[in-house]
Amino acid sequence: MKVVEVENYDEMSKVAAKTIIEKIKQEQNVVLGLATGGTPVGTYKQLVIDYKEHMTSYKNVHTVNLDEYIGLKETDPTSYAYYMKEHLFNDINIPIVNTHIPSGEAVDTGKECEEYETLIDSLGGVDLQLLGIGENGHIGFNEPGTSFHSKTSVVKLSDTTRKANSIYFNGLEEVPTHAISMGISTILKSKQILLLVSGKRKAEVLYRLLTEDIKEELPASILRKHPNVTIVADFEALSIVNEKQLVLS
Ligand code: F6R
Repeated sequence: MKVVEVENYDEMSKVAAKTIIEKIKQEQNVVLGLATGGTPVGTYKQLVIDYKEHMTSYKNVHTVNLDEYIGLKETDPTSYAYYMKEHLFNDINIPIVNTHIPSGEAVDTGKECEEYETLIDSLGGVDLQLLGIGENGHIGFNEPGTSFHSKTSVVKLSDTTRKANSIYFNGLEEVPTHAISMGISTILKSKQILLLVSGKRKAEVLYRLLTEDIKEELPASILRKHPNVTIVADFEALSIVNEKQLVLS
């Protein structure tokens, strides 16, 4: 696991965008795994700036998102489908049929999960997966205690996750209680993973990720077993790591 230390959120976003752009330029038909939340907003902004300046083409790119809230229509401004259009898809030349997000409106959620796994496999798997991390160590919406063998499934959101995400809703009651999330084994099948970590709020979980045992109570810890993970973290996120003078490889 490689750790790239950057000064701040802006720099983290630029490094992440550069990695994605290089991947798209190097390979035909890239499959990107995408995340939502506050962390990747700056990365998507940089991709849009690059698109406007250099016309990097997304015509042959496919995307699969990590997760979606159950019960939200894709036209709902708080859905991740809406978020992706707002922050990225509307501003680049990706064919919308190439973009995939689990449906929060699915009547048969079990079937939706199975089909999502099949879809990822039929695309040949994820080439580059972008990840954020929850303060409790979740990746995707795989909360502490989730099996490392989990596949795409319906997950119950923890109170801390719902509280953290309530800033995007009109209060905690409006935050959905469940989501569909790629499983941990699904995420681990990605060929390359880029984990973005920014801000003081994430300093403790980043320190835990780098120092604690690999265990299901800390979902992100399994990333240490993946052969190609890069963490891009800013000074604030690395503040405890640096305070304790942990030596990074
Ligand atoms: C989002 C996702 C989550 C977030 C995590 C961090 O698609 O799967 O794991 O990456 O909750 O969220 P932010 O970036 O808002 O701190």
